[in-house]
Amino acid sequence: MVRGDLSLRLQSLSWKRNSNVKKVMKVLIIHGPNLNLLGKRETDIYGTRSLDEINNAILSLAADLGIDANIVQLNSEGEILDAIQKSNYDVLIINPAAYTHTSIAIRDAIAAINKPAIEVHLSNIHSREEFRKKSFIAEVAIGQISGFGPDSYLLALRAAKNLLSQ
Ligand code: DQA
Repeated sequence: MVRGDLSLRLQSLSWKRNSNVKKVMKVLIIHGPNLNLLGKRETDIYGTRSLDEINNAILSLAADLGIDANIVQLNSEGEILDAIQKSNYDVLIINPAAYTHTSIAIRDAIAAINKPAIEVHLSNIHSREEFRKKSFIAEVAIGQISGFGPDSYLLALRAAKNLLSQ
């Protein structure tokens, strides 16, 4: 075999190996305004677990599922828009907190990115005050998970995994 043949064979072998490598799914998790206060804020509604504790549970499940999870907590609408527009991810999991009920800008950003988004709430927004029943985000999300406390995020992570494994 001439040298050229050998190097071509090696190249094609390495291409085959690379094409078998499964791409790791990237999930961006955004916690909206006031969620940095979890554990201290209205504990009868949101529970006593801190955001750090919730994030650790998310990261632990993400590792089990083979997901590369990037978690951010942002208090301002503009920062949330930048994260949605500029981050590198396959699926968005977002708890827009109070912006759920007010932000057409976040709704439009999600509609613009053309990636699946899952809306999450710790509390059941449909069983609380009237103004919380309206979500601008639900219209552009694949689905909404609301009312399971910190487990809402874990259920969303499993849903994200299933979405891209189909
Ligand atoms: C929330 C529900 C919102 O109505 C509220 O403004 C929040 C938290 C939840 O996770 O239950 O800040 O998104």
